Amino acid sequence: MVPAEEAAALARTRAARGSLGRRVVWYTETTSTNDRAVEGAAAGAAHGTVYAADHQSAGRGRLGRVWHSPAGAGLYFSVVLHVPAAAVPLLTLTCGVAVAEGLRASTGLTPQLKWPNDIWVDGRKVGGILAEAVQVAGDPAVVVVGIGVNVGRAALPPEVADRATSLEEEAGRPIERGLVLAECLVALSRWVARLAAGAGGEVLPAWRALAASLLGQPVEWDGPGGGVSGRAVDVDDAGALVVEMEGGRVCLNAGEVRWT
Ligand code: BTN
Repeated sequence: MVPAEEAAALARTRAARGSLGRRVVWYTETTSTNDRAVEGAAAGAAHGTVYAADHQSAGRGRLGRVWHSPAGAGLYFSVVLHVPAAAVPLLTLTCGVAVAEGLRASTGLTPQLKWPNDIWVDGRKVGGILAEAVQVAGDPAVVVVGIGVNVGRAALPPEVADRATSLEEEAGRPIERGLVLAECLVALSRWVARLAAGAGGEVLPAWRALAASLLGQPVEWDGPGGGVSGRAVDVDDAGALVVEMEGGRVCLNAGEVRWT
């Protein structure tokens, strides 16, 4: 059952959310809300169905990493999206813009985006997005977008603790998890509808504005022959990171880029 605080925030934002969160399935504990959403999507869950949990016992991040998901410290939810196939390449960047806007609306903080979809506040990671395509017969583009946000202080393992932060630490006050969920869904509803309607051209300027502090900065990544470095300058129309190197520009489509 959806907890009372979240139910109240969702009720207040019903009109602005459209079909996002019209149905919310809430778990006290589950392995990963993306697992539940992928199962749900494969079984025919409608556009906008949300799967959320107080605690994930096997939360997943990008690149096979664990997403630490302690109870009472974070917001963990996944949304089933049915979009036109043409919208898929820019979907994760679009969701990054929406989550950054949702966090700003619910907390007053000014999040930044780090390619492809990390959400940072003051140089430390506060949230992340894991998008997974789902094969559904007759529907070419069903995507589960899983969103994790550190709401409160939590005992994080040492390997991530110095690079992570939480909304409450940054805001210096208690943050209502239900409001964060509701405002993220409001922003997702707006941005995903724009993208689906063919207004993807609005996404990149919004993404660039939110990533401004990280564009123009030196980056490095692991290439096949060892470490490679350059300067991140832009994202292209397909959402790839454009990096300037001595020999010219390269576009990175996946993998991990470190801002040095
Ligand atoms: C990342 O930055 O590596 C992406 C993290 C995504 C975490 C969220 S929490 C809700 C959903 N369920 C998961 O197992 N992962 C995503």
